[in-house]
Amino acid sequence: MANSDSPIVTSTTLTAYPLLSRGKVRDIYTLSPTALLFITTDRTSAFDVILANGIPSKGRILTQISAFWFGFLAEKMSELKTHLITTELPAGLSEEERIALEGRSMQVRRLKVLPIESIVRGFIAGSAWAEYHKTGTVNGMSMPTGLRESERLKEPIWTPSTKADVGQHDENISPNKAAEIIGPAYAEKVKQLSLKIYGIAREYAEQRGIIIADTKFEFAVDEVTDEVVLVDEVLTPDSSRFWDREKYGVGRGQESLDKQFLRDWLTKEGLKGKEGIDMTDEVVHRTRDGYVKAFEMLTGRKWE
Ligand SMILES: Nc1ncnc2c1ncn2[C@@H]1O[C@H](COP(=O)(O)OP(=O)(O)O)[C@@H](O)[C@H]1O
Ligand SMILES: [Mg+2]
Repeated sequence: MANSDSPIVTSTTLTAYPLLSRGKVRDIYTLSPTALLFITTDRTSAFDVILANGIPSKGRILTQISAFWFGFLAEKMSELKTHLITTELPAGLSEEERIALEGRSMQVRRLKVLPIESIVRGFIAGSAWAEYHKTGTVNGMSMPTGLRESERLKEPIWTPSTKADVGQHDENISPNKAAEIIGPAYAEKVKQLSLKIYGIAREYAEQRGIIIADTKFEFAVDEVTDEVVLVDEVLTPDSSRFWDREKYGVGRGQESLDKQFLRDWLTKEGLKGKEGIDMTDEVVHRTRDGYVKAFEMLTGRKWE
C-alpha cells in the first residue's frame, strides 16, 4: 500500500481486542495474556502537551524507525532480548482497521515494565545541561569542569529518570536511586545494555549524518526467565535528541531535526504548553518533513 494513501490516525477503536491503555502517542490493546498490540498513532506532542491535530504518517514513520533498529540491534547484539514479536497485523481486524493500522503497529510481548526511564547521553544538552550549568553535576554525578553546551562527552553516561504518571514530569535520578527503585542487579543490567545499544547506534547514525545526542530506553523483566528485555519504541526522534551533523556546533543549543519548526512556531505564537492547539498546514508539513528526513537518513531508504 502506498504510504501517501494512508489515513491520518489520531485515535483508534478496535472491536476485536480490549484497549489496555492510551499513552501520549500510543494506543495499546490486549491480544492475549502474553501479547499486546502496540499502535503508534499520528498524535504529536511538544513541550509536553498533545496538539489537537496529528501529523500524517508520523506513527508509521516512528514504527518503521523502531522496526529498523530492532532488526539492526538483533544482528549486532545476539544477547539482546526485545519485546517485538512481529510487525504483521493480528487476525480479526476489519478492512478499515487494517488500513488504519498498516505499518504503524507491532505485536509485542506483554511484560512488566521496569519503572525507570533508562536515558543515555553522549552529549550534554537539555535537562543535563541545565543541571550542569547550575551545579557542575548531571543527575547528581560530578562531571569534568569547563564543558560547553552540546559538547560531546568523553564517554556516554547513564542518567536514569523516574517514570512519572500521566500529567507528571519525569525526574532525573542518580544511578544509586535507580538501583533502589528497581534493584541493583536489574539496574546494572539495564545500564550496561543501554550504554552498549547507544554506543552501537550512535556510531551508525553519525555515519549517516545524524547525531543521537541522547536517548531514552525502557526495559521490562520476563518474569518466567528473569531476563531483561528491551521494550517500547527504540531510538526514534520522539525518544531521542536527533541533531543534523551538518549543523552541529559546540557552545550553543542545537536545532531538533524533527520538532524545531513546531517548537519555534508555538513559541512565536505564544502557544507554548497550551492544550488543544491546531497546527497550521505549514507546521504539519514542515514537521512531517523532519520525521521523513530522520527515517531516510537512518535507513537509507526512501519514504514514499
Ligand atoms: N512490551 C510492553 N509491555 C507492556 N507495556 C509496554 C511495553 N512496551 C512499552 N510499554 C509501555 O507502553 C507505553 C507506550 O505508550 P506511549 O504513548 O509511548 O506512552 P507515554 O506517554 O508513557 O510515553 C509506555 O507506558 C510503556 O512503558
Ligand atoms: Mg512513550
